[in-house]
Amino acid sequence: MHIAVLAETLDGEARVAATPTSVKQLIKAGAQVSVEKKAGLKADFPDADYEEAGAKLVPRAAALKSADALFCVRRPDAETLGKLKKGAVVIGLLEPHGDKDYAKACADAGVNAMAMEFTPRITRAQSMDALSSQSNLAGYRAVIEAAELYGRAFPMMMTAAGTIAAAKAFVMGAGVAGLQAIATARRLGAVVSATDVRPAAKEQVASLGAKFVAVEDDEFKEAETAGGYAKEMSDAYKKKQAELIASHIAKQDVVVTTALIPGRPAPKLIDKAMVEAMKPGSVIIDIAAANGGNCELTTPDKVVEHNGVKIAGFSNLPGRLPADASSLLSKNLVNLFPLLIGEDGSLAPHWDDDIIKGMALTRDGEVVHPSLTGE
Ligand code: NAI
Repeated sequence: MHIAVLAETLDGEARVAATPTSVKQLIKAGAQVSVEKKAGLKADFPDADYEEAGAKLVPRAAALKSADALFCVRRPDAETLGKLKKGAVVIGLLEPHGDKDYAKACADAGVNAMAMEFTPRITRAQSMDALSSQSNLAGYRAVIEAAELYGRAFPMMMTAAGTIAAAKAFVMGAGVAGLQAIATARRLGAVVSATDVRPAAKEQVASLGAKFVAVEDDEFKEAETAGGYAKEMSDAYKKKQAELIASHIAKQDVVVTTALIPGRPAPKLIDKAMVEAMKPGSVIIDIAAANGGNCELTTPDKVVEHNGVKIAGFSNLPGRLPADASSLLSKNLVNLFPLLIGEDGSLAPHWDDDIIKGMALTRDGEVVHPSLTGE
């Protein structure tokens, strides 16, 4: 089984799909690994470390030519797909939701594409779940970015020159990213509150020492799907929740938004009027920026200022911690590797395994994922 790892080509993407550590682990598990020269540089993994770990450092074309599997962070373009062998597997964050054209391009190129976003939320797959590994870092980094943009301190400080009040931080969406944002803001000394539409989040928020803020009616009590994700709420619920949140947000210094519903645009939770009710100097970090944003005024990859409130739309927060993000993502891939090989160690995806079934977008020239075939 020959694995290729390329330098990522998307602007601003500093992560890499294998690290020297993961290369060692893949080789130990029976793979041969080719890494494009300089692929890990932006994540602080020099070529020499990959070589020492046993990888072959090669030009891009050579890595692609020999690959049975391409491990990537972001989706490869059509030209790259076209250079792979028929039957090769491509695995990474392929942004599969609703994108039939990309899946079709993979099928036409004869590659078997697997999207890490579709890793099923079952206990066995937790160690392979790249959404979780990356969201956790995004939640941490969002608070660090907030601290950088906020013109005041987070913790309460009593000094001879006077007392500084603790920052009030509010986290919207208490999933993997949100819980890490809560924990990080608490560590920095902020007074933290959070909201979510999933009832299970309430206890998790409280266990991190934050206050839970939400309309807890019957709809809220039923609002969790079997997959552990949030479902879209009714307009009536959204209205009630928006009223509650509007009065809460007006008193906050820092707001971190992480709310997502898989396969849909991010729910709009903060409108212009709510921003205008906030104090000048307040900061909103919109982690959902890449999915359309939770705040009406978010501009992806920009920090915009409205009435003195800074709104940051970083669309790739894990990419701002490229070394750790790459280490975790590459470990997710190492954990997935056994499901890609047969007993003799050659490429043989376990097509009947629920994890591979969940992730597979294409197989043998056909688009197979139910979310893309309409089945
Ligand atoms: P996500 O990234 O899809 O969404 C982020 C958060 O936004 C979620 O908590 C969601 O409930 C919330 N949200 C959606 N609409 C909202 C609204 N209108 N207002 C406020 N909040 C809203 O979710 P994430 O973080 O990937 O995971 C959600 C949960 O799934 C986790 O907390 C965890 O319990 C579970 N999970 C299970 C895994 C497993 O068993 N393998 C792996 C990862 C997560």
